[in-house]
Amino acid sequence: MRIGVLTAGGDCPGLNAAIRAVARSAIQRGDEAIGIRRGYRGLAENDYITLDMHTVAGILQLGGTILSTSSFEPVRENAVEKVERAFTEQRLDAVVAIGGEHTMEITRQLYADHGLPLVGVPKTIDNDVGGTDFTFGFDTAVQTVTDAIDRLHTTAQSHDRIMVVEVMGRNTGWIAAYAGLAGGADGIVIPETITTVEEVASGVLRRHDHGKDFSIIVVAEGAKLAFASGEERLIQPVKDTDEYGYPRLGGIGVALATELESRTGYETRVTVLGHVQRGGTPTSTDRVLATRFGACAYELAKTGDFGKMAAIQGTEMVGIPLEQATKVKSVDLDILEIAKRFYT
Ligand code: F6P
Repeated sequence: MRIGVLTAGGDCPGLNAAIRAVARSAIQRGDEAIGIRRGYRGLAENDYITLDMHTVAGILQLGGTILSTSSFEPVRENAVEKVERAFTEQRLDAVVAIGGEHTMEITRQLYADHGLPLVGVPKTIDNDVGGTDFTFGFDTAVQTVTDAIDRLHTTAQSHDRIMVVEVMGRNTGWIAAYAGLAGGADGIVIPETITTVEEVASGVLRRHDHGKDFSIIVVAEGAKLAFASGEERLIQPVKDTDEYGYPRLGGIGVALATELESRTGYETRVTVLGHVQRGGTPTSTDRVLATRFGACAYELAKTGDFGKMAAIQGTEMVGIPLEQATKVKSVDLDILEIAKRFYT
C-alpha cells in the first residue's frame, strides 16, 4: 500500500507527531508513506517528499509541520481533476488529511462527491472539531496561556491593575475556558454565552470590595462586546479576511479593556497572546494524542474504511463519519460555571 499524509489549515503543536505515527505505522507493516507538502495544494501541484525512517526521525517534539500547510481548497480552486490525477500518477491507495473542521469538510466533499480514498485526523488549538472530545494542539495552547496568566498575576497584583488577556479559539471559547479555569481567572468571556461589559465590571468592583485590587480577565477572540442594553458588537481587525477569504478575528481585548477602565476607574492593560499559542513544543498529552490519532488513521486507511476521521471519545480511539466532524463543537458550559465560583 502507498499512503500519503498532508497537513492543512493552521498549524499547531503535535502535527509532526501525527505525521510520524502514520509513517512509522506504514513502514512497520511494509507499506510506503509519502508526505504531501502544503496541504491539498501539494496534491494538485505534485509536491511530495518521501516519508522514510530518516525523514521522520527526531520530529516528535517539534512544533509546526515538516510538510508545511495551506488552506487550499481543490473544489473552490477548480483543482479536483488535478487531485484525482495525482492519486493515479502517484499510485496512492489512501491519503490521511490532518486538519481542523474546515479541512474535514473539504475531505468529506472529496470523499463523498468524488470517491477519493481519504481519512481525516483532527488537529487544532481551538478544540472545536465535532465528534471528538479533544483535538491535539489544544492542550499545548492551554498550557501556554496558563503560563502567561501565571506571569500576569504577579505583575497585576503589584500594580493594582486589571489585565485583559485575549486568546485564540475562533468561534469557540475552549482555550479561554480551560486556561481561565487553570489560571484562576477573575472573569472569562467566550462566544458561547453572553457576558456583558457591565457584568465583568461589577465582578471587578466586587473583588475590590473584598480587598482584591487586581483582576485577570480572559476573553476569547470570537466573543462579542456585549452590553446590558442588549447591544452586541463583533470586533474584527481592519483587514478582516485572510488570503483564502476566511474571517480573521482579534481586537476584542482592547475594546473590552477600554470599557472596563472607564467603568471601574482602574488602570487596565491588554495582552494579546496571538500566534504564540500555536507555537512551541507539544505537551506530552498532545504527543500521545497525535500519535494515537495517526496510528488509528493508518488502520482506517489500511482496512479501506474511508470517509472516516480518527476521534477520541472518553479514552477510546474510534473512527467516525467525516460529517460528524464538520459540526463545530461548543464549550461545555459546566466548565464556565465551575470557573465562576472563583471570580471573587
Ligand atoms: O484555528 C486556529 C487559529 O489559530 C484560530 O484560533 C485563529 O482565529 C486563527 O487560527 C488564526 O489564523 P491565522 O494564522 O490565519 O491568522
